[in-house]
Amino acid sequence: MKYSVSDIIIKKRNGGKLSADEIGFFVEEYTKGEIPDYQAAALLMAIYFQHMDEEETFALTEAMKNSGDIVDLSNIKGIKVDKHSTGGVGDKITLIVAPIVAACGVPVAKMSGRGLGFTGGTIDKLESIEGFNTVLAPEDFHNQVNEIGIALIGQSGHIAPADKKLYALRDVTGTVPNLSLISSSIMSKKLAAGSDAILLDIKCGKGAFMETFDDAKALAETMCKIGESAGKRTVAVITDMSQPLGYAVGNSIEVEEAVDVLKGQKWPEDVVELSLYLAGIMIYLGGKANSAEEGRKMAEEVVKNGAAFEKFKEMVKRQGGNPTVIEGIQTEDGWTYPNMPASEFKNEIRAEKSGYICEINAGEIGNASQHTGAGRATKEDTIDHSAGISVVVNVGDYVEKGSLLATCYSNSEWKLEKASEEAAKAFSIGDEAPEVPKLIKATIGL
Ligand code: URA
Repeated sequence: MKYSVSDIIIKKRNGGKLSADEIGFFVEEYTKGEIPDYQAAALLMAIYFQHMDEEETFALTEAMKNSGDIVDLSNIKGIKVDKHSTGGVGDKITLIVAPIVAACGVPVAKMSGRGLGFTGGTIDKLESIEGFNTVLAPEDFHNQVNEIGIALIGQSGHIAPADKKLYALRDVTGTVPNLSLISSSIMSKKLAAGSDAILLDIKCGKGAFMETFDDAKALAETMCKIGESAGKRTVAVITDMSQPLGYAVGNSIEVEEAVDVLKGQKWPEDVVELSLYLAGIMIYLGGKANSAEEGRKMAEEVVKNGAAFEKFKEMVKRQGGNPTVIEGIQTEDGWTYPNMPASEFKNEIRAEKSGYICEINAGEIGNASQHTGAGRATKEDTIDHSAGISVVVNVGDYVEKGSLLATCYSNSEWKLEKASEEAAKAFSIGDEAPEVPKLIKATIGL
């Protein structure tokens, strides 16, 4: 071997700086299976405590990006803008933003992930639409974007395989929440995915990897620098994840909420606001507007005139899904979707006392939703598309004793019971009106 792995571990353990060559060597040999997990785990823990500087972080990103395929999207016409969220609870924004920007002429060639732990994944959500196919051959993927302007598919196993292996190891060795490791992990995949520009939604709060604003800002700045140094225009928006985003947390119920917003429904307000804000930036980065503000106006227009919902339906149909299931039925209280997956059992959570909603812990709601069957504890778990939690209040609302806070859905009675107990603990009710967390906290790189 070119280097001694234990020398590299010791160097980092003692606070030394690793060279790009040492990092490249480690990533390449580990991916090939030449370095055992116990040595990789030791190095990750050394990095976790001693940190990496900017140069080391760039080198790690580059090495992981180059460990697999680099997607070539050059035969798709237009400026391709990718969007990435660092993972949230109730985050269905991609389902809304992607058809909006496609309806405004920005090509969307997006590869998304599946959910793990308390965070959901766009691909799982889309698969709750009957027949929707999330696996397309590269040629079909490119043709679809050129012909209808949008395709949403699952991530190929050949993108940044080094990150896949290292992330799985980080997951079981307590080494996920480190700025260099998170930023290089995400950016290695984004840089390999072939877009021209990247919009990052960095979540901040109890339902996110970064709980404080300062940590989220540091992550956003590092990721923007990595993107820009690789020649891609990169913008990051720091957004609140202390309470779930919108009402629905799950899969089919999140698709229903996204479809409601695409049809022009004005609530949940946080979902509508964040979708339009991010869409405005993407339309600007995609060269179809002169500013993010102009992009936002275009986004509002395609929702109003129905073009965004039509684009979503067109994508569903083209990817084998049944578009009639998302057409739904309009009632006095909004839309209902009788042909989307629905759970056999449900349980209501009601306020134990009157007062202000002071907290809805997003992490706890995410965990409870996972336990209804909507999420995975391990990558191999299967999910129940109809399960989840619908939260009907926001932080700052005043509630009377006994009023509805949330409804939990599951196809398993025992899972429902356990999840409902957990979800109930996520709500705190107090006598004083709390400060309502700001949804969009900062935008970096615009
Ligand atoms: N998502 C990733 O892809 N990697 C991380 O390290 C954290 C979140």
